[in-house]
Amino acid sequence: MGDVSKKLAKVAAVVVVVIIIVLCIVFGKWSSSKDTSQPRTLAWDNFRLPDSLLPKSYNVTLWPRLQKNKQGTYIFTGASSVIFTCAKETNLILIHCHKLNLTMTNGFHATLTSLGGESTPSIITTRLQEQTQYLVIQLNGNLAVGKFYSLKTKFKGELADDMEGFYRSEYEEDGVKKIVATTQMQATYARKAFPCFDEPTMKASFYITIIHERGTVALSNGMDIESVNMTINNETVTRTTFEPTPQMSTYLLAFIVSDYTYISSAKKDNALIRIWARRKAISRRQGQYALNVTGQILQFFVNYYKSPYPLSKSDQVALPDFQAGAMENWGLITYRESSLLYDSAISSNGNKERVATVIAHELAHMWFGNLVTLKWWNDLWLNEGFATYVSYLGVDYAAPAWNINDLIVLYDVHKALAFDSLASSHPLSSKAESINKPEEISQMFNTISYSKGAAVLRMLSAFLTESVFVKGLRTYLSEFAFKNTIASDLWNHLQRAVDQSPNITIPRKVTEIMDRWVLQMGYPVVTINTHTGAVSQQHFLLDPDSKVDRPSEFKYKWFVPVQWMDSSRVVKTFWLLKATDTHKAMKINTGWVLANVHMSGYFRVNYDTDNWEQLLTQLINNHKVIPPINRAQILDDAFNLARAKILSTTLAMRLTKYLSKEREYIPWASAINNLDYFILMFDGSKEYAPLKEYLKKLVTPLFAYLKNITKNWTQVPAGHTDQYLQVTAIRRACRLGLQDCQRLTKDWFNKWMQNQAINRIHPNLRGAVYCSAIEAGGRQEWDFGWKMFQNASVAAEADKLRFSLSCTKDQSLLKRYLDYALDANKIRKQDAISTIVYIASNVEGSKLAWDFVKRNWDRIFAEFGGVSSFSYLINGVTQRFSTDYDLKQFQKFKEEKSKTGFGSGTLALEQVMEKIKANIKWLAKNKAEVMQFLKKENSQKG
Ligand SMILES: *[C@@H]1O[C@H](CO)[C@@H](O)[C@H](O)[C@H]1NC(C)=O
Ligand SMILES: *[C@@H]1O[C@H](CO)[C@@H](O)[C@H](O)[C@H]1NC(C)=O
Ligand SMILES: *[C@@H]1O[C@H](CO)[C@@H](O)[C@H](O)[C@H]1NC(C)=O
Ligand SMILES: *[C@@H]1O[C@H](CO)[C@@H](O)[C@H](O)[C@H]1NC(C)=O
Ligand SMILES: *[C@@H]1O[C@H](CO)[C@@H](O)[C@H](O)[C@H]1NC(C)=O
Ligand SMILES: [Zn+2]
Repeated sequence: MGDVSKKLAKVAAVVVVVIIIVLCIVFGKWSSSKDTSQPRTLAWDNFRLPDSLLPKSYNVTLWPRLQKNKQGTYIFTGASSVIFTCAKETNLILIHCHKLNLTMTNGFHATLTSLGGESTPSIITTRLQEQTQYLVIQLNGNLAVGKFYSLKTKFKGELADDMEGFYRSEYEEDGVKKIVATTQMQATYARKAFPCFDEPTMKASFYITIIHERGTVALSNGMDIESVNMTINNETVTRTTFEPTPQMSTYLLAFIVSDYTYISSAKKDNALIRIWARRKAISRRQGQYALNVTGQILQFFVNYYKSPYPLSKSDQVALPDFQAGAMENWGLITYRESSLLYDSAISSNGNKERVATVIAHELAHMWFGNLVTLKWWNDLWLNEGFATYVSYLGVDYAAPAWNINDLIVLYDVHKALAFDSLASSHPLSSKAESINKPEEISQMFNTISYSKGAAVLRMLSAFLTESVFVKGLRTYLSEFAFKNTIASDLWNHLQRAVDQSPNITIPRKVTEIMDRWVLQMGYPVVTINTHTGAVSQQHFLLDPDSKVDRPSEFKYKWFVPVQWMDSSRVVKTFWLLKATDTHKAMKINTGWVLANVHMSGYFRVNYDTDNWEQLLTQLINNHKVIPPINRAQILDDAFNLARAKILSTTLAMRLTKYLSKEREYIPWASAINNLDYFILMFDGSKEYAPLKEYLKKLVTPLFAYLKNITKNWTQVPAGHTDQYLQVTAIRRACRLGLQDCQRLTKDWFNKWMQNQAINRIHPNLRGAVYCSAIEAGGRQEWDFGWKMFQNASVAAEADKLRFSLSCTKDQSLLKRYLDYALDANKIRKQDAISTIVYIASNVEGSKLAWDFVKRNWDRIFAEFGGVSSFSYLINGVTQRFSTDYDLKQFQKFKEEKSKTGFGSGTLALEQVMEKIKANIKWLAKNKAEVMQFLKKENSQKG
């Protein structure tokens, strides 16, 4: 799937069902528990399937109704048969089935036939085990090992608007309401569309048939091979059949019925590429950019993996309602509209980058994830981290001018380092046995899996070199095509590639090095003493007093590839293999040492004070000597080391002084991320004024510089990240109260309000301008923004307005907006969580949002408690919590709601507790020091 924070994931309402004790006793003798020393668990109480039955192929027919039935609900009906083989003798069939009403045939939910002609055991009972989501079929005799059977079911399900399984999405076109029937199977929702063995190793071939209203289009993973018009029960319909799929996992299936149209490009490498969307979006050419890049990126991956694209076509479909950012269904990739559609007159360069990045991420999965699939969700990080890492390579191929490879540092590496510095973090890989329930699986779609996964793989590729990395990757894919793997299968292939490359030496086996990064949480801070050459490592914790209660067999030591340079700027590598070591070359007399060059390693670096001073002097005298990524790194490391009480906060603040000369986006973005923490801690208090004054002083020259190079805002900077820098300058200058900036945005917005047919605000600047104008404005600006939000014809534009509406300072408007967030007629359900978090990010809205979430908790939990973005909500509404009172409130809340639990937000709860405690301590320790620094700086002319 597309990544979580950017690509909010999915829901699973947790069904709690009382297990009927009588049944357990009656069926007890069929328990699959073999080990008698273990407490006996009944097979159907286990969330994992037994390994007795293996599916071979399915024949599934589905018929979604795009009109309400007489009872006022949208439904689908279906029939499915699965051919499976018996691998271990058993008299019990467990097959996943959730929220489906199965039709009874001869008193049972299913019928069973043997395919070999021999006698079939008969069914004694069938029933649904709701908690573990099984159809349980008890037979009067054993199935025979090696024989094939077919199990048939007929069923009916609701085509709900819940964005999981087979669901419906709605939109309006020319005043007509239109319905799309579509799917989201990952991770555990295929069972909601038809009964199936719904685990990733249960690969099978799927023969799909869709019955749909005449005039609509049906899509599935394979190419459609036949469409026949017919009449069923007096309804005139079309029946479309699809070419069978290769052996694949259920979570990658997809079916869509819609009124969509498409654009396509000439077949590339025998694969047809199509972009599907609402008719209006296609006629306005919003799919054109996606079509341009999909072919290029697919071609890139064919070469990169040295493996042909495995299917005959690749469809990309934009959906108005979609929980994640995108989903890599094999051959039929689904996207949020904002992740696929692009309109050059309306969308920003950031929107364009997003489209290319999401397409690249999903296409990367066509091989890594789909062709070769991890055995179980505990290794999800390898699938998602990999796709995230190589998506940068794919985008770089399609848009080399963007320098996208550098942006991984901001988007993923820094983000992961921040998240992973908590004692409540968790390792990349979990034990397979610890991930069972749907909400436990859904919780895996998090920053650690995506961003730390990408950062660690990038480090691996850097120390192996990209050519060795790719070599191992290619043999891995070819050995395991259509099969399943565990992480060590990849390490073994990389090791082979290393062994065949005489020029590469690494100090340990790939597996040994990787285990330390994958099996234990966190990462090291490497400390270098340039007086002695001593180098040491230590587990980096944001709060040094926090208790780490997750034991690690590696004792929080890593094998660290330290790429470093001195003032001569020749890059060398030193492997730190012990807790403490000495590297004489790092003992220097003049100049500085800079380690983790280009931030290719997943760790932080600390130095002796003299070296910090040398780096600081270098930044002030000529910052360009240090690569931009490392300027960003120095800032991020220093601020975080200061938060962990390893470095003085004053030193970190002093490092920001050189920013008055910085003209690159990446260091600026890094600085702002860190200074935002100060804003968050201070902006509700009297301390904010001096901080604001200091920041204004830093941003003013940047604003002037951009005003100058854009010829008074009439031109667009040429570089991709220069365009980001322009947005940053405007956003920050306006927020900090620079009048020049506020006049500008107010003026632009007013002109648009006066003539709403013509919006002359440059697409890149719209997000910043709308927010600033609505912040400075009142009800009139807000109402106008709301109206424009409702009228927006491009999702990217609607998203900018939706965010900007949260910028108002008017609490009554914010209150109203919070109510809108949970009203699906006003804000789409897919956007509810992010809207609440936007409001919480506004200092005027944070308390309102917290109260709102508490007040509506039961409803929010029922609707979103299983989505992986649920943790984003919990983190978002508590981001300003920094007092003992806040902590008590949060603890009270936690206790009150502990009965129902926290679903996929369970880990987030622990993280939030830890963060609040750290905030309290940070303020106590740093408030005075920061104020002293600011007072001194603000009194100087600059
Ligand atoms: C699938 O089932 C339909 C009807 O249930 C049948 O007509 C068709 O032949 C089956 N296809 C395969 C490939 O088994
Ligand atoms: C399934 O059955 C339940 C219980 O009888 C009923 O409430 C529900 O509406 C049915 N669902 C569909 C889609 O028919
Ligand atoms: C089926 O009916 C639709 C709408 O009436 C028509 O456009 C289409 O050509 C027909 N398809 C076939 C295969 O006859
Ligand atoms: C189909 O329509 C005919 C004529 O209107 C009617 O007699 C018949 O009962 C209908 N069949 C079904 C299955 O509804
Ligand atoms: C798509 O590619 C064509 C041909 O290179 C180009 O003219 C067009 O501007 C591109 N469209 C977009 C939206 O980038
Ligand atoms: Zn993904």
